Amino acid sequence: MALQAPGLRSLRHSFLPQGLTTQMRGIHQAYNAQDKHVQIARRRRFSSSTTKKIPTISEAIREDAQTYKSHSVRDMMSLGNRTTVITGAGRGIGLAMARGVAELGSDIAILDALERPHDDILTLENELGVRVKYYRTDVTKFDNLENTFNEVKNDFGGVDNCITCAGIVIDKPFLEHEWEESARILTTNVMGSLFTAQLAAKAMREKGKGGNIALIASSAAYGPTPSRCMAVYSASKGAIKTAVHSLAIELAPYGIRVNSISPGFMSTEMVFETALKKPELWSTISETPLLKRIGYSGDLKGVVGFLLSDASAYTTGIDILVDGGLNCGRY
Ligand SMILES: NC(=O)c1ccc[n+]([C@@H]2O[C@H](COP(=O)([O-])OP(=O)(O)OC[C@H]3O[C@@H](n4cnc5c(N)ncnc54)[C@H](O)[C@@H]3O)[C@@H](O)[C@H]2O)c1
Repeated sequence: MALQAPGLRSLRHSFLPQGLTTQMRGIHQAYNAQDKHVQIARRRRFSSSTTKKIPTISEAIREDAQTYKSHSVRDMMSLGNRTTVITGAGRGIGLAMARGVAELGSDIAILDALERPHDDILTLENELGVRVKYYRTDVTKFDNLENTFNEVKNDFGGVDNCITCAGIVIDKPFLEHEWEESARILTTNVMGSLFTAQLAAKAMREKGKGGNIALIASSAAYGPTPSRCMAVYSASKGAIKTAVHSLAIELAPYGIRVNSISPGFMSTEMVFETALKKPELWSTISETPLLKRIGYSGDLKGVVGFLLSDASAYTTGIDILVDGGLNCGRY
């Protein structure tokens, strides 16, 4: 009975205009009765429409009183009846994220350039009871990407969520970087991610129910990693982290939220390929984060589930660092 807590009672008397206390008592009764208005408010809270009129203060108080208890975190995290498109999920971080959203009930469309993606994809559908389909796609070829989105819309009936995970890295001194390979990093990590987000947003707009986009940036967007040489890669991830603000602004009118995730050192082939060539990198990876270990791809499942679900209904235009404390006092 939160309204009877002494602290809240005195707050209510000191800040609220006269007459609202009675109104709030009525609201509380309505909440307790779990009447149809509670259900309406529940639907309205997560509606994608941004054209509704600005509520009055008392309406906002009523809405809050009705929803804060009726929305369990467990329910809000559910991704049931949704379709999530995930690029780069043929292995690594993308695969873990695909599994995470499937565990929350989402059907998943996996887009990757790999001819033979990880075998785990074959068992996901039976194991988790969601629809799973693999599409061999190159995110640097717009026609290919657009055709794949059309296939996904036909197969799944639309798109509700999207994660852009496809990415590449080249770790070598900046003075040795060549034009073509640098262009490949930028085309894959920046253009590939942005145009995946664009096609996803268009599909969400067509469906008319809003949606969520999570782009994958990197802790490299926050600062350089000792013993790694990734100037162009860092630039590409900085671009993603920055673009999120504009995308959030432009897509909010369609009820589409856009955020990014910046992982630190994660235990995937992308990191191991370099660590094998640079043994000193392994000790950096294991000792530099405050939590003194490499990140596991499963460490990213919770945060992506949060960003794609109603649990983050009031969150857009931000980046979330998942780096074991790497960026906390690193310099
Ligand atoms: N591993 C890390 O420590 C780390 C840290 C921060 C950010 N990231 C980012 O996370 C994402 C995933 O990285 P990962 O570690 O899982 O790497 P990974 O190399 O294991 O997986 C990347 C996936 O992207 C796919 N891909 C690459 N180019 C593609 C293209 N043109 N079209 C379609 N698919 C393509 C690859 O086939 C691969 O399956 C990348 O964007 C990466 O930059 C990784």
